[in-house]
Amino acid sequence: MGPDSGPRSRVLTGAGLDRLIAVMAEEQRGEWGSKIGFILAAAGSAVGLGNVWKFPYITGENGGGLFVVVYLVCIAFVGLPIMIGEVMLGRMTKRSAVGAFRKLSGERSLWQGVGWIGVAAGFVILSYYSVVAGWALQYVVIAAKGEMSSGDPAAMAERFAAVAGNGPGAIAWHVAFMAVTVGIVIGGVAKGVEVAARVLMPLLLIMFVALLGYAMTLDGFGEGLNFVFGLNTDKFSASSVLEALGHSFFTLSVGMGAMLTYGSYLRKDDDIVGAAVAITVLDTVVALMACLVLFPITFTYGMEPTQGPSLVFTNIPMAFARLPGSTVWALTFFLLLVFAALTSAISLLEVTAAYFIDELGWSRKLAVPLCGAVIVLLGIPSALAASSHTFGAGMEEAIGLNWFDLFDYVSSNWMLPLCGLGISVFVAWRLGDEARRVQFEIGSTLGKLAGAYVVWLQVLRWLVPAAIIVIMLHALGVFEALAG
Ligand code: TRP
Repeated sequence: MGPDSGPRSRVLTGAGLDRLIAVMAEEQRGEWGSKIGFILAAAGSAVGLGNVWKFPYITGENGGGLFVVVYLVCIAFVGLPIMIGEVMLGRMTKRSAVGAFRKLSGERSLWQGVGWIGVAAGFVILSYYSVVAGWALQYVVIAAKGEMSSGDPAAMAERFAAVAGNGPGAIAWHVAFMAVTVGIVIGGVAKGVEVAARVLMPLLLIMFVALLGYAMTLDGFGEGLNFVFGLNTDKFSASSVLEALGHSFFTLSVGMGAMLTYGSYLRKDDDIVGAAVAITVLDTVVALMACLVLFPITFTYGMEPTQGPSLVFTNIPMAFARLPGSTVWALTFFLLLVFAALTSAISLLEVTAAYFIDELGWSRKLAVPLCGAVIVLLGIPSALAASSHTFGAGMEEAIGLNWFDLFDYVSSNWMLPLCGLGISVFVAWRLGDEARRVQFEIGSTLGKLAGAYVVWLQVLRWLVPAAIIVIMLHALGVFEALAG
């Protein structure tokens, strides 16, 4: 507040003045339109391509079974506790990823670096995420034309190769998807996202329930079930553990400041823990349902569980080909997939833009398109990865990854867990002195269950950092080096 902000500033002192400043700051900042606005938007962020596209294919690549178990353990004991801490940091500070750390630890504090990793991860993730969403958009068009299903695995593989392998086409649809995302984020958070999530999330769930019913009638259902829930260990390795850890962050949208940023628009009386648990459960249910639909189809039609990023695109149309009204099914499915991707992409773009808006004072109208443009450019190598042999072939030979894989690998498996590590240490150690305040912020649910609060804090203090550090060292081969 400036010196001449009116006579009232002279009579208000101490706590009263603080309160007024807090209220004014809050009034300038967007808030969710309804009590479940945050839950809807955060669930919209969590449920996305990660659940339907990525989780099934990495489960396939890592042999199913044991990978799923490790993933579930990471979700419950690492992802969820961090989500609670992240949302709390946002609500406590009313800032976005970097600002939250600065506000709590000082102008020059290195803790801001945790937020920077998150913002950087947002750019990297959205760049290839939007490419995949672009593929899904193309499938919507194909379905709308009634050209989707021939019911032949080889034809489905060719179709995917034609969609993802057409470089200019992939770029164009990536740009189209980003343009829509930018358009929505410019309008601010509360509108749009809440409405979209309120209608589309239930629809997506209903769709999966119906598909699950269909999958159960397939010959390969038992084999699919066994693949997902049997303790298969053949393809499991040290890197599988890192992949499971990284994906638990990715799928819950934690470790990047996205939940922190959404939490900053939260009202003081909203229940953080209840929301976090609900979001985590929903997200996990959708991911497991996707697997239980996809793998029975895979085994019934003799398709490859290890085929990688094409899995959902080749599999789902196979199922529809055999159902009456296949065009409507395919159209609905891929539309829902695009919307699920959109509500996630919105949160990714929001994090990157919020940094420039909150920290550098840019206007939303400037920050959002500019971030969008950078992300479009950053995504071009990924859009070309499936087609061009100059982009990626040499790299693939050298390190086994093309641009697309590399961006995904580095952001999910390293940047998110590193940022998550920073968040957990910050909340559980650095804010330790302010434990009462943390306890207050955590609010109703855990505040009343005093014991549960202590468990959460200790998990965040010991288990989460230890797990992240051990898994990273393990993946780097440090333990083998020490042993040998
Ligand atoms: N969770 C989303 C998905 O599963 C992706 C996503 C959105 C995300 N926002 C994020 C991942 C923030 C990490 C961080 O598709």
